[in-house]
Amino acid sequence: MATKTVTPTAGPKIKTELPGPNARHILEADAKYISPSYTRSYPLVARRGRGVMIEDVDGNEFLDFSAGIAVVSTGHCHPDVVSAIQKQAAELIHMSGTDFYYQSMTELAERLSKIAPMPGPHKFYYGNSGTEAIEAAIKLARYHTRRQNIIAFYGAFHGRTMGSLALTSSKTQQRRRFAPLMPGVTHVPYPNVYRRPAGTDATQYAMGCARFIEETLFHTTLPAEEVAAIFVEPIQGEGGYVVSPPEFLRELRRICDQNGILLVADEIQSGAGRTGKWWAIEHAGVQPDIVCIAKGIASGMPLGITIARAEIMDWVPGSHASTFGGNPVCIAAALATISVLERDCLKNAEMMGGYMMERMAPWVKTHPLVGDVRGLGLMIAVEVSKDKEQKTIAGGERDRIVELAFQRGVLFLGAGESAIRLSPPLIVTKEQADVALDILEEAISAVEREPAAGPPRPGKPMGT
Ligand SMILES: Cc1ncc(COP(=O)(O)O)c(C=O)c1O
Repeated sequence: MATKTVTPTAGPKIKTELPGPNARHILEADAKYISPSYTRSYPLVARRGRGVMIEDVDGNEFLDFSAGIAVVSTGHCHPDVVSAIQKQAAELIHMSGTDFYYQSMTELAERLSKIAPMPGPHKFYYGNSGTEAIEAAIKLARYHTRRQNIIAFYGAFHGRTMGSLALTSSKTQQRRRFAPLMPGVTHVPYPNVYRRPAGTDATQYAMGCARFIEETLFHTTLPAEEVAAIFVEPIQGEGGYVVSPPEFLRELRRICDQNGILLVADEIQSGAGRTGKWWAIEHAGVQPDIVCIAKGIASGMPLGITIARAEIMDWVPGSHASTFGGNPVCIAAALATISVLERDCLKNAEMMGGYMMERMAPWVKTHPLVGDVRGLGLMIAVEVSKDKEQKTIAGGERDRIVELAFQRGVLFLGAGESAIRLSPPLIVTKEQADVALDILEEAISAVEREPAAGPPRPGKPMGT
């Protein structure tokens, strides 16, 4: 076993002040050497991970309800995943699937073909990250349809490379001073039901967001026959864990079908079992044409995959490739991950997600700072807002709650301007969920006693 076991108890153990002395040394070096563009929320310096626990360099133990930004779906260093990685690393680390062949590329494709959210036959493109899965989908959609334009949504996060960044629209800092971005992208409203205009019906509002494309865009600025694809996160991730109503996704499917447009589901954060089904879009009964996956599919090894209906992936040799994409070690991790997810996680994500939502739902009534609790499976958000009527964003309070939870030993990340995301590994137990929720509630209460001074502001950027 490569990794020493972190004490398998439900609760955190904080033994030093935070950051501790060893952590402080590393933070100093980090400030000297590492890109300041990263969005660190608090000074957690990780040394070891096991299951839902993370141990820092000073021996403090934390409950990780961020899962390394929704990546370690099977928990940190799951023994099946570690052993698959070790075995593969001793056999073949790299050969480049771009120019050569190896069996595991097709083996993983066969496994994913059985669980893809649309019927096969499928074809698979392998990259190394979420943004690469999106880049491939952008290029493929343009190539296949011979159309240039793409529709994406406000609040979306699809990645930070120049193509995917053109679709990303959740925070201006992600785009500031990087223009010109890829042209041909039009953003439209996403149905954030919590922030819908007062007095409107949630379903009608969501349908209105979809129909805006058809009734306004297609009649004014964007000819439908020039649109290659609509890119959508079934649940917006970095933008705030915003769950779109199923009617919205169904309406997008209809609009795509009627206009020869491809529907691309970005399941990079919401997929790989996080919502209790393999893919979040399955909750709406909608089948996309292309699906992008990454994050949780390989338990922390870098792998991004673009899956398309086979007739769509019609590009010819040389059109697109990546030296490292589909690395054998990452694929071995993905194969082991899929088995663990099937065996231990899908059901647990549904059950634990339901349990946590049930425990948290009353907070909207009992906590002045909790405006909304929403989610599917283990993709849950608490929206922190200053007053229930105006739903004023409370970014300062949100940041403080996340910081206090860290000081008490639970790792959360923010999402959007004012939400806290809960995305634990999918193996989380009821005992661990109870401890994390107790600590979160305690942190919320502490901030309610001392709200942030000054005008409302968006929270610090946290995570992706
Ligand atoms: C929905 C979604 N799409 C795309 C990305 C980009 O993935 P990566 O950071 O691996 O490039 C992310 C990552 O945070 C994401 O949550």
